[in-house]
Amino acid sequence: MFKKTILCIGAGYVGGPTMAVIAKHCPEYKVVVVDINPKRIAQWQSENLPIYEPGLEEVVFTSRGRNLFFSTDVDAHIASSDIIFVSVNTPTKTFGQGAGRAADLQYWEKTARQILKNSSNGKIVVEKSTLPVRTAAAMERILNSNEKGIHFDVLSNPEFLAEGNAIQDLENPDRILIGARHTDSAQKALQQIVDIYAHWIPMEKIVTSNVWSSELSKLVANAFLAQRVSSINTISALCEKTNADIEEVSRAIGMDSRIGSKFLTAGVGFGGSCFKKDILNLAYIAECYGLTEVSKYWEQVVAINSYQQQRFVRIVVSSMFNTVADKKIALFGFAFKADTGDTRESPAIDIAKALMEERAILSIYDPKASDGISSDLQQFRGRFTVEEDPYKTARGAHAIIIATDWKQFKDYQYEKIFEEMEKPAFIFDGRNILDHKKLYEIGFNVHRIGRPPLSHLG
Ligand SMILES: NC(=O)c1ccc[n+]([C@@H]2O[C@H](COP(=O)([O-])OP(=O)(O)OC[C@H]3O[C@@H](n4cnc5c(N)ncnc54)[C@H](O)[C@@H]3O)[C@@H](O)[C@H]2O)c1
Repeated sequence: MFKKTILCIGAGYVGGPTMAVIAKHCPEYKVVVVDINPKRIAQWQSENLPIYEPGLEEVVFTSRGRNLFFSTDVDAHIASSDIIFVSVNTPTKTFGQGAGRAADLQYWEKTARQILKNSSNGKIVVEKSTLPVRTAAAMERILNSNEKGIHFDVLSNPEFLAEGNAIQDLENPDRILIGARHTDSAQKALQQIVDIYAHWIPMEKIVTSNVWSSELSKLVANAFLAQRVSSINTISALCEKTNADIEEVSRAIGMDSRIGSKFLTAGVGFGGSCFKKDILNLAYIAECYGLTEVSKYWEQVVAINSYQQQRFVRIVVSSMFNTVADKKIALFGFAFKADTGDTRESPAIDIAKALMEERAILSIYDPKASDGISSDLQQFRGRFTVEEDPYKTARGAHAIIIATDWKQFKDYQYEKIFEEMEKPAFIFDGRNILDHKKLYEIGFNVHRIGRPPLSHLG
């Protein structure tokens, strides 16, 4: 009764939301999302979805059981599908050649072999994961070196959603990019993927290209975004030395239409599972082609991100009379950004670790990311607590650190928080989101990024 069956392998931050939105807009397609992780699938089938995204529940609950299904039976669903999106994780390699930089493609290759083993007819395979340029060629070689006489077309359709804004990004993307080879068969396959997105996305936003441009564009988009963050963070360091104000500089340069105003907020740096891994991968690919200068240029974006976090910790320690040993510090926010529960590569992790190495005692509060904290900091067990209430988190603390840009952090009763803290009380706003003047008037010593501190200590 369904026109076609779409399968997505990998029910993570990308696979789950992306397929839920496709299912919502394409009721005549059956959409199945599979994963090898039974806990994740059970959560997708329950009332408590495995990830937090504003608007996600509504989209999933609308289609689930109608034309959206979640399953652990990867083999059976490969066999019965027409189009397969592959959205498995592609982390940085931790071993062998390219360790710490290249993409670890083992999950990817295993998936290709699994597709081949369980297919008795040709299928369209779509790369949704972010992959090194020219991966589709390897994928096609594996899939089409079969003795069954069946043909696969491998397309690239990278995902540009931003966590925390995923549903809006999927509903109304800046563009959909689909890369395909220029063979008749690949171009027909391309049309089938265009037809899916055309259900809700205007044609002028559906961009097609060759496969290699599509693969590379995803890496480049992340590299450019991260590069803006690192660029503005270098200037924040200069502002602190010169008494220039980073917010004034950002506003002034962001009004230049050639520069634009987005991604110009200075802070403790970027996090998330993608930016660092994708830039390192881009740098590694450049190096493999002998482009050493290109590689070094992009590596510096990651180096500046670490520098900014270390610099922030140095400011915390030096402002607190050069020692935080046995001082309670409240960490507000642990997710890598607001509106997500994802802590992967969150700047909060390295900040927390560095402070605990200085023997601080941390109490940590995050509205949505509590689950990840204990495992991210497991080697420091006993030196931190995870709290459920921000007021309790700050009670008896010497300092508060804002590590994530959650909006609600602006609305707390800081008079009440101040009363219950040790004095002198400090706030280190690593995201420049609070009302600093008001906090200073309450009595806090306020440190912000790229702006002069507001201190009562002379
Ligand atoms: N998270 C983001 O914001 C984002 C945005 C754009 C692109 N991407 C890219 O999308 C890809 C997926 O990212 P994610 O954040 O969704 O990762 P994730 O780790 O949340 O999800 C990947 C899922 O794939 C599953 N998996 C791995 N191997 C499998 C196999 N052989 N069969 C079935 N399931 C398997 C894992 O169990 C996991 O649940 C990555 O390449 C990432 O770079 C991520």
